[in-house]
Amino acid sequence: MEKPYRRRDLLGIRDLTAAEINGILDTAENFREINAREIKKVPTLRGKTVINLFFENSTRTRTSFELAAKRLSADAVNISVSSSSVTKGETILDTALNLDAMQPDCIVVRHSSAGVPHQLAKVSKAAIVNAGDGANEHPTQALLDAMTIREHKKKIKGLDVAIVGDILHSRVARSNIHLLTKLGAKVRVAGPGTLVPGDFQHLVDKGLEVCPHVEDAILGADVVMILRIQRERQDSAYFPTLREYSIHYGLTNERLDLAKKDAIVLHPGPMNRGIEISSDVADSSRSLILDQVKYGVAVRMAVLYLSTGGSMVSA
Ligand code: CP
Repeated sequence: MEKPYRRRDLLGIRDLTAAEINGILDTAENFREINAREIKKVPTLRGKTVINLFFENSTRTRTSFELAAKRLSADAVNISVSSSSVTKGETILDTALNLDAMQPDCIVVRHSSAGVPHQLAKVSKAAIVNAGDGANEHPTQALLDAMTIREHKKKIKGLDVAIVGDILHSRVARSNIHLLTKLGAKVRVAGPGTLVPGDFQHLVDKGLEVCPHVEDAILGADVVMILRIQRERQDSAYFPTLREYSIHYGLTNERLDLAKKDAIVLHPGPMNRGIEISSDVADSSRSLILDQVKYGVAVRMAVLYLSTGGSMVSA
């Protein structure tokens, strides 16, 4: 059964209802099999134009948005900020307005400052999709994480999910906390006290628990999500050394044994082996890190389709 999707922009998970999140995931399920075909192309977005405007580095998100657009037959254009007129002093807003004047249907934007996609959405005729804004949100990452969890656990409601690491600087953590609590999971976060924000208290009655020790968060978990130390967003020392961080907070097989026997391990990437996660864990059968990347293409196909006027489908 089809339901209208009334949102043009995807700026964050915070704005979405549980029904909308499930609708995007169901739509992504429908697109998934296209990526397994020998000829990975359908005409769904023929004639549409998608611009990828990334002011921060990316491997997974930018590539998968480009693949998603191309597999749906949209024209995809990647703007390299280092060779754009931003280097001559043009503002972000002027850059976006000039790109918008070329009448694209969707602009996918990543920026180191929180709120940039929201500003662009106010002035742009094209749909704006947030591909990560500072430490605020990374909505398509949370959606692909949810797709991975749904695939392997067959549900999200009632699961115990541990999110461990640099919560303070993590847009992935924020989007995941919103998504998982909206869908009825119990979320436990842990990390160095300096890297767990105090402003999470308002989410406690929505299913979030802040744990003093990483072991408390992992104990009995169905899903263990490990986050990278975001050194590019840290303006001071939040812990003594990376070696100490690894000893006290890194996910090893011993720590993972505290979780349920069939617990799965997620990491949004890029991962720093030997710091937040051991190679033993990252390469184990419990790690679904590459599945996350695989589902990222289907999720971004769904988001581009819905943002350019497509209708949600129920699985
Ligand atoms: N997970 C993620 O956003 O990875 P990239 O920075 O490579 O896009």
